[in-house]
Amino acid sequence: MKSFASDNYSGIHPAVLKAIQNANEAHEISYGDDYYTAKTQEIFESIFGKVQVLFVFNGTGANVISLKCCTLPFQAVVCAETAHINADECGAPTQSIGASLITIPTTDGKLTPELIKPFLSRIGNVHNTQPKVISISQSTELGTVYSVEELTVLCIFAHQNQLYVHLDGARISNAIAALGVSAKAATADCGIDIMSFGGTKNGLMIGEAVLIFNEELKKHATFYQKQSAQLFSKNRFIAAQFSALLTDNLWLDMAQHANNMAALLAAEVSKIQGVTITRKTDANAVFAIIPPHAVAPLQKKYRFYVWNETTGELRWMCSFDTTETEVRDFAAYLSGLCS
Ligand SMILES: Cc1ncc(COP(=O)(O)O)c(C=O)c1O
Repeated sequence: MKSFASDNYSGIHPAVLKAIQNANEAHEISYGDDYYTAKTQEIFESIFGKVQVLFVFNGTGANVISLKCCTLPFQAVVCAETAHINADECGAPTQSIGASLITIPTTDGKLTPELIKPFLSRIGNVHNTQPKVISISQSTELGTVYSVEELTVLCIFAHQNQLYVHLDGARISNAIAALGVSAKAATADCGIDIMSFGGTKNGLMIGEAVLIFNEELKKHATFYQKQSAQLFSKNRFIAAQFSALLTDNLWLDMAQHANNMAALLAAEVSKIQGVTITRKTDANAVFAIIPPHAVAPLQKKYRFYVWNETTGELRWMCSFDTTETEVRDFAAYLSGLCS
């Protein structure tokens, strides 16, 4: 069954699979003191500038470690209501770090200083948890992408208020491809303090990276990683995958392809009577409402999620291995159901 359900339904890119095999030739020092980890750290630095990289198993773990680096148990993480850390991580961040979440409703998944300001009024009041970090997702869970200017304004605002900025970058590659600027310009140069760099949604078998730019936040990071059960003894196999992904711009080409497929999908389905695209297609997600009678038969042929049961809004995700033919076939099938 073809899938537009999630970009993590996809398989492993052949270059990544080969990198795992190549790293399997000999014994290597464990827990990240190996050749592949050192080499991949260097590659990350050539792309993002000075950065500490931690390789972890998954995006939830990356978020937990990042937020742990930023907070004490009486502090709080400010995020959008739709943020993955709030909506989809089974409470892992709050359970693991002790700090609470302050969740803010948004129209497009993006936070702004104006939206955040009212939630900072009780800083210093002993009766309230103390906001210490703003957590954003890039691209957002609603498929939108913060511009470089929006990120910069948000980071300046955060730092003026003694807050850190954490970026959940499960789909940062899609966002950077959409922005068309360098990875450094889209992250560190905007003032991001700590972030995750997604792997599994862009061709890796397993693995995400935590990238730490702010020196203060590096202090305890490796200890938090180990304590969160996110330090892989055979770390070389995660690092080697990233090495393949980051070589010759593969990560960017794959993300750009996924974005292109989403743009094509949005363009094709919007021609169909009764289909409404509900959000901006900035990256690799398409949100739409279709005639209710068409949902079940469409789901029989293609996997995807109903994003909002109340409104009937659907989410279709494209990935690095989505093909143009698959997109056109999907649109044609939907068109048939709607006519
Ligand atoms: C925005 C975002 N952040 C984090 C995650 C968590 O990733 P994982 O499932 O690898 O823990 C996801 C997964 O869907 C996600 O979409």
